[in-house]
Amino acid sequence: MSTKPQAKYLKDYTPPSHHVESIELTFELSPNETLVTARSVWVANSDTATALSLDGVDLDLVELTVDGVAVDSYELNENKLNLSELPTRFRLEIKTKIDPANNTSLEGLYQSAGAFCTQCEAEGFRKITYFLDRPDVLTVYTVKVIASQNIPYLLSNGNKIEEGQLSDGRHFATWHDPYRKPSYLFALVAGDFDVLKDTFKTRSGRDVELALFVDKGNLPKAPHAMNSLKAAMAWDETRFSLEYDLDIYMIVAVDFFNMGAMENKGLNIFNSACVLANQETATDRDYHTIESIVGHEYFHNWTGNRITCRDWFQLSLKEGLTVFRDQEFSSDLGSRGLNRIDAVNAMRMHQFAEDEGPMAHPIRPEKVIEMNNFYTVTVYNKGAEVIRMLHSLLGEDGFQKGMLLYVERHDGQAATCDDFVAAMSDANNVDLSQFKLWYSQHGTTTLKATTTYDEQSRRYSLTLTQRPPKNNASQPPLLIPVAIQLLDRNGNDIALSNASNVANNVLQLSDYEQTFEFENIQNEPVIVLLEDFSSPVKVQFEQCLEDKLHILKFARSDYSRWEAMQQIFTQAVVEAVNSESRDLDSRIVDACKSLLEKPVGDLALLSELLVLPNFETLASQFDTTPVDALVEIIDCFEQQLAEKLKPYWSTVYANLMENHALNAEGVGVRSLQNTSLYYLAKVSDAEIDAWLEKAAVSVNMTTKLGALRAMVGASHSLLEESMTRFDGQWRHDLLVMDKWFAMQAMRRDENAIARLKSLFTHPCFDKSNPNRVRALIGSFARANVRHFHRIDGQGYQILGDLLLELNDINPQNASRMLTPFMSWKRFDGQRAEQMKSQLQRLADLPNLSDDLFEKVEKALAG
Ligand code: TRP
Ligand code: ZN
Repeated sequence: MSTKPQAKYLKDYTPPSHHVESIELTFELSPNETLVTARSVWVANSDTATALSLDGVDLDLVELTVDGVAVDSYELNENKLNLSELPTRFRLEIKTKIDPANNTSLEGLYQSAGAFCTQCEAEGFRKITYFLDRPDVLTVYTVKVIASQNIPYLLSNGNKIEEGQLSDGRHFATWHDPYRKPSYLFALVAGDFDVLKDTFKTRSGRDVELALFVDKGNLPKAPHAMNSLKAAMAWDETRFSLEYDLDIYMIVAVDFFNMGAMENKGLNIFNSACVLANQETATDRDYHTIESIVGHEYFHNWTGNRITCRDWFQLSLKEGLTVFRDQEFSSDLGSRGLNRIDAVNAMRMHQFAEDEGPMAHPIRPEKVIEMNNFYTVTVYNKGAEVIRMLHSLLGEDGFQKGMLLYVERHDGQAATCDDFVAAMSDANNVDLSQFKLWYSQHGTTTLKATTTYDEQSRRYSLTLTQRPPKNNASQPPLLIPVAIQLLDRNGNDIALSNASNVANNVLQLSDYEQTFEFENIQNEPVIVLLEDFSSPVKVQFEQCLEDKLHILKFARSDYSRWEAMQQIFTQAVVEAVNSESRDLDSRIVDACKSLLEKPVGDLALLSELLVLPNFETLASQFDTTPVDALVEIIDCFEQQLAEKLKPYWSTVYANLMENHALNAEGVGVRSLQNTSLYYLAKVSDAEIDAWLEKAAVSVNMTTKLGALRAMVGASHSLLEESMTRFDGQWRHDLLVMDKWFAMQAMRRDENAIARLKSLFTHPCFDKSNPNRVRALIGSFARANVRHFHRIDGQGYQILGDLLLELNDINPQNASRMLTPFMSWKRFDGQRAEQMKSQLQRLADLPNLSDDLFEKVEKALAG
């Protein structure tokens, strides 16, 4: 490495030297030589500011004038253009040349399968022109896009104000966005698409034109995303009183994209995987993901775009809040319980691990080398949990009052997390100073609980203790909202009244230790602790199996019922790891049996109750992950559930009618069918084989993949031919092939490594496409524990080899793919050493990207 990348600190924030009155951009598009002309008007923020330092990366500077006069006294280095002796107000014109066709980083202006598109968050605009590429520099953009006639659609933010032909045969379109915005929200798209059009009438009666651009031929897969958009627009009006503000809202789906989607003002750009769906090609989960991401990007229009971030350390201001909003959207439209299960799974599988590893950071980070590395589960998901805690402390009305004040105060501004909390606090007249610690602490806090019941006085008392995270031992006490429910022996809710006058069911733990007393409790109750996961903590609480089964039956929160079952399974696994016994407690088997005896209510929820906790969640119970024991025990428990309940699984499966509806009922049926088939495949007989074969050729992708997943879990003899058939059927559809790649990557047989290697040369595979890489290698590293964590290190070698290549092709994707290596210290000596040596290979690279540098350095430190 030539120079060590430099870190930036939140504490060093200084306001920009200048502001920009307006900018006009002209793009003359061409794959290898796109000419960008930027004309802007700058005003110094103080009389003494005569120097301006602009960001710019990988740019070819062609021309530079200030007030029409060519400048030659500038200073240019790898990432800055420094100007000096400037007047307080001046016009700047900069021409730069860029090479979109060779931009494989998918940041800045690049080509996705021929179409030109941009990705500017977080710091991609500097790959387009020299600018103050920071979110607190907002201006009004006018953008002229010029391209050859065979590129019909020329798009940018805002409204189209002009279009026409040029004398040289090219054509152009000019766009104007009246809302001031930071550079990261700029977007341009130019390509040939099919367009799905629609309209939306806002609550105040304005007509908004909606347009969804997809690759030619994909129109039949566009309606679900369009419906999701309209639902999101309506929901934001009813739940948050927020209306859309431009006359047109566009979404473009592209195949090459690093993340899910991007909220560029009026012109969202989406990973095509987060747009396209029909029953034949997309699973029920895909439908759900599309709805939530379309919602997420739409909700950013207020929380992100109208009110943006002062600096990137404040990322959670827009992301945590917008994830909270999209979670609420999904919960209001669908099942609250299932959505909560998803959210908590993301926290336990990924965020807790991040919080315990070398990349642990607060939701508002304090030190950053490469901003792209901080689009994390901590900033997004824990950030959303922090917003959710505010919501449960203030209630819906109080929260909405806070939102109203936040928008009133900061519309059009670049704000901070402190501004947000201040609005919540002022609107509700509450002191949130202790609560704000959640923004600056890292690591996962542990909540311990003990209870006593005194029959004489009929008093139930709950003592709560918070223990700071191991990697943050001096953390002062947090304000932890602990929601509870007390159940009596019959499963009825006991109304709460206690000495410390708790208005609702949310206790506020603000000290290291506090005792809460409940009067007039007739018999010892069963407590549902941390109902709905009311704060993002780990819980230590001894509760007997009977009490947990009581919760499973009677808790009012669907989430908490599921949680009880997860705890039951988790405890069984932990006990098995610590003993010789592999027998699953018969009371647990019986609990599953009684769930299967009456498959009523929400079948999707029922199906979730019957699934063991995943490997990551179980691993978080141990300081050193007992890889082999966990793999063996999970297998063994699943096998027992399959064998002991075979007739029940069979009956459930046989009685569920094939249901192709996309509504909640259909989703529930397919979910329970798939779970049943997953277990049945492990005890297959002729009848079950026939079911598997039939499901594997279903026209419904959820059913089809469910069958394949079941076969993979059981290493079933029908798997090979089913996979071959799938490959033959779907080679023309790469998004569907991603499901096939993922399934191949999860196969458990001894040929797994050789097969994986051979798939790198499959005609559909492409290392420069993040979706393909995630499907094949991401699934392998996350979901094939047996082979990724092979003791011979071959699994690690495959990921290490890939990372070396991705470092050059797409550092942002490389950095995301690196994540499994970050927790190397949680593995036994031999595995840890091998993971570490893969990290060392990267550290030794002469051209290691900033993205990988930051994570590799942290991982290897100490
Ligand atoms: N702001 C986007 C979102 O959460 C995230 C995003 C999309 C992104 N593409 C990116 C972040 C590229 C960094 C780099 O909706
Ligand atoms: Zn977002």
